Amino acid sequence: MGSMRLLVLGGTHHVGRAVVEEALARGDEVTTLTRGVSGPSAPGALALHADRTDPAALRAALGDATWDAVIDTWSFAPSVVLDSASLLADRAGHYGYVSTRSVYEWPPAVGLDESGPLVGGDARSTEGSDYAAAKRGGELAAIEGFGAERTVLARAGLILGPYEIVGRMPWWLRRLERGGDVLAPGPPDLKLQYIDCRDLARWMLHAADEGLSGPFNTVSQPGHATMASLLEAGIEATGSSARLVWTPPEVIESAGIEPWTELPIWLPPYGEALGMHTGDVTKVYAAGLTCRPVRETVADTWAWLQAEGDPPARPGRPAHGLDPEREREVLAGLAGG
Ligand SMILES: NC(=O)c1ccc[n+]([C@@H]2O[C@H](COP(=O)([O-])OP(=O)(O)OC[C@H]3O[C@@H](n4cnc5c(N)ncnc54)[C@H](OP(=O)(O)O)[C@@H]3O)[C@@H](O)[C@H]2O)c1
Repeated sequence: MGSMRLLVLGGTHHVGRAVVEEALARGDEVTTLTRGVSGPSAPGALALHADRTDPAALRAALGDATWDAVIDTWSFAPSVVLDSASLLADRAGHYGYVSTRSVYEWPPAVGLDESGPLVGGDARSTEGSDYAAAKRGGELAAIEGFGAERTVLARAGLILGPYEIVGRMPWWLRRLERGGDVLAPGPPDLKLQYIDCRDLARWMLHAADEGLSGPFNTVSQPGHATMASLLEAGIEATGSSARLVWTPPEVIESAGIEPWTELPIWLPPYGEALGMHTGDVTKVYAAGLTCRPVRETVADTWAWLQAEGDPPARPGRPAHGLDPEREREVLAGLAGG
């Protein structure tokens, strides 16, 4: 497989880096386009540099080259996607936009498929601060600039795996490494739905090969992993002696601990967020998605942390993780009955 000429808009972080590495591994010819401020592209890729918010600079950097497919990781102002997609419409055969399940109206229903109600978005907007609206605008921009019949919208949910700069799995791994009693948010059999960046990358390349189009919820089946299998994989990967203290969701809630951010990945198995780990993925599995086991995702994320160190804090974005003192208080409360 693989001998396409691929342009990755992005390519140095989590999803983009995985796309570049997967494509190179299968023999594709890869070009990346970044500003060049967040690190080099993988060896073997041709690295072009421009600020995409400046269409003239983008045009100059791309020259008159052509590609079989483009994969775009942009997550800010939709107008930037519109500029790129329009510029590339006559120069490439396929456009894969890394979108998100956040484009569905909140709260997402349990079992929501691609026909779910969407937030508003504007392909021409130069505003990127409302994430859901910016991503929906990005979808519309990709379609308007490139054509719906040649554009895939990969609506990813939670993305894990190596190079995760958001810091969710990295936080859990460092916490488990520290050992001792670890507040494990229950129930242990809580079903999780996520995608390893490398499985997302592989599927997006497959979508380009096959000329797929339209929206796809690109995440695992609900329950591909559970809270217990994820954390146990973390203990195994880190070689930690940590003891998981399973803590009921109600206890976490009454302690005022924020799901998702203070306890990354975890959401209580009730309430508005229930749809987050229970989306319908029939369409993407029928279109060839395969998801590797959670142990592999966790072990490889740990190996990456060991090799390259922790991801830097992202300015303007919330840090993830629970303050150790608060964790101790809640665990002491549990022990005291
Ligand atoms: N994390 C999740 O759980 C999750 C879930 C659903 C969807 N998503 C989506 O997944 C995507 C993540 O993409 P990613 O992992 O590849 O990471 P990213 O952090 O979005 O990567 C941004 C890339 O674009 C480049 N870039 C940034 N500003 C630029 C500019 N002005 N001009 C040109 N290039 C620029 C960066 O390189 P330079 O800095 O060197 O320019 C970098 O390579 C996003 O679209 C996000 O919405 C994420």
